[in-house]
Amino acid sequence: MPKRFFIQTVGCQMNILDSELVAAQLLGAGHEPADSPQQADAILLNTCSVRQHAEDKIYSALGRLKELKQQRPHTIIGVLGCMAQKDQGQILQRAPYVDLVVGPGQLGRLPDLLADVAAGGGPRIEVSLDRRAGTRQSVQQSFARFQPSRPAKTRAAPHQAMVRAMFGCDKFCTYCIVPRVRGPEQSRPAAEICDEVRRLAGDGCLEVTLLGQTVNSYQDTSGPRTVRLADLLVMLHDVEGLRRLRFVTNYPKHMSDELLQAVRDLPKVSPYLHIPAQSGSSAVLRRMKRGYTAESYREMLARIHAVLPQAAVTSDFIVGFCGETEEEFQETVELVRQSRFKNSFIFKYSARPGTKAAELYVDDIPEAVKRRRNNELLAVQNAICLEDNQPLLGRTVEILVEGPSKVSRKISADGMAAQLVGRTTCDRIVVFDGPAELTGRIISIVIEKVDAFTLFGRRVKQ
Ligand code: SAH
Ligand code: SF4
Ligand code: F3S
Repeated sequence: MPKRFFIQTVGCQMNILDSELVAAQLLGAGHEPADSPQQADAILLNTCSVRQHAEDKIYSALGRLKELKQQRPHTIIGVLGCMAQKDQGQILQRAPYVDLVVGPGQLGRLPDLLADVAAGGGPRIEVSLDRRAGTRQSVQQSFARFQPSRPAKTRAAPHQAMVRAMFGCDKFCTYCIVPRVRGPEQSRPAAEICDEVRRLAGDGCLEVTLLGQTVNSYQDTSGPRTVRLADLLVMLHDVEGLRRLRFVTNYPKHMSDELLQAVRDLPKVSPYLHIPAQSGSSAVLRRMKRGYTAESYREMLARIHAVLPQAAVTSDFIVGFCGETEEEFQETVELVRQSRFKNSFIFKYSARPGTKAAELYVDDIPEAVKRRRNNELLAVQNAICLEDNQPLLGRTVEILVEGPSKVSRKISADGMAAQLVGRTTCDRIVVFDGPAELTGRIISIVIEKVDAFTLFGRRVKQ
């Protein structure tokens, strides 16, 4: 049986969480983490299919592993996650030395699969049913729930944790591959989530981020009364030891008043809302099948500002979607200008085979135009980031210290990190000097300098 495993992860937070869970499960089955692929008996790539670029990265990583596999034929190479579900047997065609292809709905079987392959039973392809290959129930069952208990050491930071609230997605935005590779939307029972958060808080975890592709459409209908996200937040708010509670990603149409009021009334819940708009043009939104208009998105923002004037709202945008005219793009620029998002994540449209957009529309915006629109929108957003950080100068903010700063690592003479990084409850990054023991503490910092993405400050002695 392989002993040492190495996991490389690309993709969203859902994938980072899956990798943590895979690691936890493998540790539980007696395997050990390796420090590098060269030292590993099993190299597992947890993959993403959201854009072509993410897939290219994995195929080139696989190309680099070919030589390693020739030198050490007993090393098991596994492709896990979204690309495994999407490309299935094609992965073995392109990289015949791969031993395992395991979709996100089959990750719970990994210890057994590794043992089978080590015993000569490879290569194996284990994926869930295609969304059109059965009834909703059978497809749902084939995306098996995977929730092993995990020790603190498998998490990136002991004081922070991601907790899955929902699996899958049912929105089928025309550009998006996620509903196909992650399967039908399923909410985890609230009681199960509460138990997990209680265990985490008992382990010293201060901040929990609930994850779902459309987390604000969470609903647990298994009990006598439907539990929605607002109710779940109320339940989790009582967990002793927990200090911060966040949730991503929100779907604009489901941003209910009840949810906004819960964020306002529950002090542990961060007033940080990621609500991707994708475009500022109603015509483009219609082609994307997002189910709202630019106007209704603006109305939603107005409701948020009325209930939560301090809220930090962030968004995602896709530029260069099929048929996007210059006027339509300028409507997006206008939305970003007016909305003053705390930040926007901007992506160039990447056609995904298997989606409606790839089937119905032509990917007709030249790469150079996509790039120019990306840069233009980014410049508008960056200017807003810089301007909106200015009023924070001189203010005192509360941060959860995450550890040594990656941006500019200043190491003191005794080897202890002297420059630390933390985050405010609105997800603002704060860099300051202090001893590494402050990691995992919630402390006050007075802000002395700002740039577009980082605040710099000094610790306020309490
Ligand atoms: N469930 C989340 C986001 C999932 S994917 C939501 O609905 O908001 C993360 C982001 O990737 C999306 O918000 C979108 O902006 C981007 N994205 C998804 N598919 C894409 C594609 N085909 N090309 C470019 N960007 C894409
Ligand atoms: Fe993709 Fe749309 Fe679902 Fe988000 S809501 S995961 S963009 S289909
Ligand atoms: Fe990528 Fe899968 Fe997340 S496609 S964005 S890793 S859900």
